[in-house]
Amino acid sequence: MTSAVHCQAIRKSFDSGEARVEVLRGIDFQARAGEMTFLVGPSGCGKTTLISVIAGLLDASAGEVALFGQTIAGLSARDQIVFRRQNLGFVFQQYNLLPSLTAAENAAVPLLAAGVKRSVAVKRSTEMLHKLGIGHRAEAFPKVLSGGQQQRVALARALVHEPRLIICDEPTAALDHKTGETVMELLASSAVHPERAVLVVTHDNRVFQFADRIAHMNDGVITAVEENSKLRS
Ligand SMILES: Nc1ncnc2c1ncn2[C@@H]1O[C@H](COP(=O)(O)OP(=O)(O)O)[C@@H](O)[C@H]1O
Ligand SMILES: [Mg+2]
Repeated sequence: MTSAVHCQAIRKSFDSGEARVEVLRGIDFQARAGEMTFLVGPSGCGKTTLISVIAGLLDASAGEVALFGQTIAGLSARDQIVFRRQNLGFVFQQYNLLPSLTAAENAAVPLLAAGVKRSVAVKRSTEMLHKLGIGHRAEAFPKVLSGGQQQRVALARALVHEPRLIICDEPTAALDHKTGETVMELLASSAVHPERAVLVVTHDNRVFQFADRIAHMNDGVITAVEENSKLRS
């Protein structure tokens, strides 16, 4: 089976004053195409750092990341940006919505960046907001939305351009159980495509049932990978 994400011997250190803290200590990890992979582990173990390296938002100190067989370091800086824009949807833990744009405009950003006409882009992003149960808030600005609503706008922005790889950091943290399930169903439906994949960092054991595979992380390394075989029939 094809690897959507392939991490080899990834290391990442941060310098804080005198000390050098190694947060990722040799990560070997794969997420397969056609699957939804969960990354779980205690707070502070390096999950956000790892997915930031995978998404190219942070540079690794050592090691290699390949996405769908493409080694990212092998691309020029410009090509990396284009590759990311075309292939990746990322949901940040803190949502990172643009305050001066409405919910529909925020969710339309990847389409606008790809050159889609504004009216078409906003129509499609509004449809995605409807699927996530917040279509009625399409015209609202982030500051008047609840945490759960902002989280769903961030999800709509990651899903709207149907990227090959969707990476989400704690996507159900601010959602009630039912909404969390709706979100997981949407994510799972994007993962079933043989050339796509979804990678989700989560603490939320209520949604573990949606994973095809669960990778456990502790203190900067992957400690175990479990296949969730009982789910798929
Ligand atoms: N930019 C940074 N500078 C210094 N330390 C950082 C930085 N980002 C993360 N860390 C540290 O790396 C560790 C792992 O953080 P993180 O990847 O956010 O963990 P998780 O997402 O699993 O909770 C934490 O101890 C955190 O303080
Ligand atoms: Mg985190």
